[in-house]
Amino acid sequence: MAATAHSHICLPSPVLTSFPKDKIRVLLLERIHPRAGELFAAEGFQVEQHAGALEGEALVEAARESHVLGIRSASQFRTPALAQCPRLLTIGCFCIGTNQVDLRAANLAGVPVFNSPFSNTRSVAELTIAEIVALYRRLVDKAVQMHAGVWDKSAAGAHEVRGRTLGIVGYGRIGSQVSVLAEAMGMRVLYFDTALVLPHGNARAMRTLDELLAQADVVSLHVPATRVTERMIGARQIATMRPGSYLINNARGSVVDIAALAAALREKKLAGAALDVFPEEPSSNTEPFASELRGLGNVILTPHVAGSTEEAQESIAVDVATKLIRFINNGSTSGSVNVPQVELPGQEGIEGSRDQGSEEGSEVPARRHRVLHFHRNVPGVLSKMHAIIAEVGANIAAEYLQTNAEVGYVVLDVDPTDAATIVDRLRAIPETIRVRMLW
Ligand SMILES: NC(=O)c1ccc[n+]([C@@H]2O[C@H](COP(=O)([O-])OP(=O)(O)OC[C@H]3O[C@@H](n4cnc5c(N)ncnc54)[C@H](O)[C@@H]3O)[C@@H](O)[C@H]2O)c1
Repeated sequence: MAATAHSHICLPSPVLTSFPKDKIRVLLLERIHPRAGELFAAEGFQVEQHAGALEGEALVEAARESHVLGIRSASQFRTPALAQCPRLLTIGCFCIGTNQVDLRAANLAGVPVFNSPFSNTRSVAELTIAEIVALYRRLVDKAVQMHAGVWDKSAAGAHEVRGRTLGIVGYGRIGSQVSVLAEAMGMRVLYFDTALVLPHGNARAMRTLDELLAQADVVSLHVPATRVTERMIGARQIATMRPGSYLINNARGSVVDIAALAAALREKKLAGAALDVFPEEPSSNTEPFASELRGLGNVILTPHVAGSTEEAQESIAVDVATKLIRFINNGSTSGSVNVPQVELPGQEGIEGSRDQGSEEGSEVPARRHRVLHFHRNVPGVLSKMHAIIAEVGANIAAEYLQTNAEVGYVVLDVDPTDAATIVDRLRAIPETIRVRMLW
């Protein structure tokens, strides 16, 4: 059988279109890693790729006929653009952030937005390890001197990291990876996390931040930006740190009080620091970078690139494309940042095996029709849907429902029936935002 999961896509326009996978149009902008295009093409979708970002009317023009839009951080997709692209079923942000898309408007339009928040975990962890070694060897200062023609051969102030104590603040995805890598280098690892998290290897949890700061030779921050973590490392905390220790911040710029850190570095209370994130960062590569930390010895400054590797880009491409393909093929919204998340059974990875119960190329269970229905989250919508399905004489085999404050998303698996009639009648429910039917 051909790999064509036929989908009845009900658009907000009065036209009901039934079309196979090769009619699904994917528009990818901003040089998204080619793995994404490959995955869409393997599904049989039409893929169009643009190297640059598109803005305003040009973006609307390009996206108007698309069912799937993939962008990175430079393309702004706001309410007016969304309203002008009624065919758009879903948007993929092939990056971490999603503030380039009007998420509320997309939620209200039944357009799930997906991103990839954790694909660069390993990249950040590896840079952190590199920085620990670089700080202990004053590597960056030595390299800068060499480029300036200065040959300063000396062992003074250079140390091995083996046997040193690393204090990890925030033992989540990145912090725990750093822990594993650091132990492999012979470091002793302590960590502090407000959540109860299990140690990896021989790492030891500290009861308080101060306890960790007092014992660590290197402190590495891996917490999110919250009200509690804002300036969680200030003058008092730095005073608690060991003399001659190091501070690394690859987390968020708000976490460290830069003035207090700069003072501690000038006074030689700390022996060095590495920072990838700053309270204020240039918004583009053409803006200069200003900071009190510029020019200080043994301070590694990087332009928010801890997670920026080609491997992370590829992993983002696979992650987001997989989520988009699942939504198109079976309606799953798990991982979406705006619409209610409905996790559907039989969702093996796109690159892995398929649902054994499905027809080839489809992720909908065999001998079933699947109704995907976004509606305004007000009482009574489900009973209206049930009544319609009962009227056409179809049996409901499975039902999945999730809601957020404004929108409900229900997925119904029904016996094969008159799909066009069901879709038409569901669309006539006043609270309906969008209906699709898959089989
Ligand atoms: N520099 C970069 O390019 C880059 C790339 C990716 C992630 N990040 C940042 O790295 C940080 C960590 O990311 P992650 O994926 O490991 O997040 P995560 O959510 O997996 O882990 C964060 C951990 O911090 C803990 N935590 C929260 N508040 C705390 C507090 N007040 N004190 C101690 N622990 C606290 C949480 O319980 C959690 O275990 C985030 O801020 C993220 O934005 C930066």
